[in-house]
Amino acid sequence: MSGNNYEKMNIQWFPGHMTKAQRMIEDSLKQVDAVCEILDARIPRSSRNPDIDRLAAGKPRLIILNRVDLADPEITSQWRRHFERQGIRIIETDAKTGKGVNGFVPALKELLKDKLADYAAKGQINRPMRVMILGIPNVGKSTFINKVAKRRAAVAGDKPGVTRGKQWINIEQGLDLLDTPGILWPKFDSQEVGEMLAITNAIKADVLDKETLGANFMLRLRDMYPEALTERYKFVPDKDMNGFELLEEAAKKRGFLLSKGEYDIERMANTLLGEYHDGKLGRISLERPE
Ligand code: G4P
Repeated sequence: MSGNNYEKMNIQWFPGHMTKAQRMIEDSLKQVDAVCEILDARIPRSSRNPDIDRLAAGKPRLIILNRVDLADPEITSQWRRHFERQGIRIIETDAKTGKGVNGFVPALKELLKDKLADYAAKGQINRPMRVMILGIPNVGKSTFINKVAKRRAAVAGDKPGVTRGKQWINIEQGLDLLDTPGILWPKFDSQEVGEMLAITNAIKADVLDKETLGANFMLRLRDMYPEALTERYKFVPDKDMNGFELLEEAAKKRGFLLSKGEYDIERMANTLLGEYHDGKLGRISLERPE
C-alpha cells in the first residue's frame, strides 16, 4: 500500500472492565468443550484478540467469520485457506440473515468427534457438548446466538464483562450453547488496528477524529478498491492526493458546499463511514492474510 501520507491520529480509548470480562471468560471456559470465536470477515486480524490463544489454550476451537455479506468474497476465501492451513476449522456466516449459520452444528460435531467418541466409550451417552461464543463488542455475537437458537435469547451487555446469570440453550440433542457470549476486548497496539475497529463500528468512531478517520479510510479505499470510489462518488482517485483532498473531491461531487468554494469534508467523512457501514460501497475487506 502506498501509504506514507496517512495522518496521525490520537486514539484515546480504554476498554474498561477488562479484568471482569477476563474472569467471566476464564470461569466459563472451565465448563465448555469448545470455544467459538467470532471475527469480522472484513478485518479478521484486527477483530481478533491475541489473548484468546492463552485463554482458550487446549480447547478445541472454531472460528466464525461473520459479516461475510459485507466482505470481499475473494478475500474471505483467502482467509479461509489461511486459517485452515493453521489447522483451524472455520465457518462463514451472515448472522443478520442467518446465511451459513446452518453449518455451525455440523462443524462442531466434526470438531468434537473424538470427545464425543470418548464420552460414548465411557457410557456418558447423554452428556451434552457445551460450547461458548466469544468475540469483541459488536461483532455479531448476540445476533449469531439468536439465529442458532432460533429465538431471541442472547442479550449481550454493551460493556465487556456485563453478564446475567449463566444459561445454557439446548440447540439440539447433545449440544448446549452458553447463552451469554464472552466479550473480548479488542486489542489495539497500533493506530491501524484502532482505525480498522472504528471504521467497522467495533469501537465508537466518536473517540477518534472523524475527519481524519474518513481521510485515512479514503486512502485505504483508493489503494485497495479505487473502483468502488469511482462507482459511488464519481471521481477517479488520484494517487498523489492526500486523504483530505480525496474527501473534498467526493464532497464536491455530492454538492456538500459549506460556503463559496469550500466543501464540507466533515460531512463527507460521516457519509463515507455511514455508507460503508450500510454496504453501499460494495463488498469491501480491509485486511488480507499475510
Ligand atoms: P454483539 O453481540 O457482538 O455485540 O453484536 P450484535 O449481535 O449486537 O450485532 C451488532 C450489529 O451487527 C447489529 O446491528 C447486527 O444486526 C449486525 N450484524 C451482526 N451480524 C451481521 C452480519 O453477518 N452481517 C451484517 N450486515 N450485520 C450483522 P445493529 O446494531 O442492530 O444495527 P446495524 O449495525 O445493522 O445498523
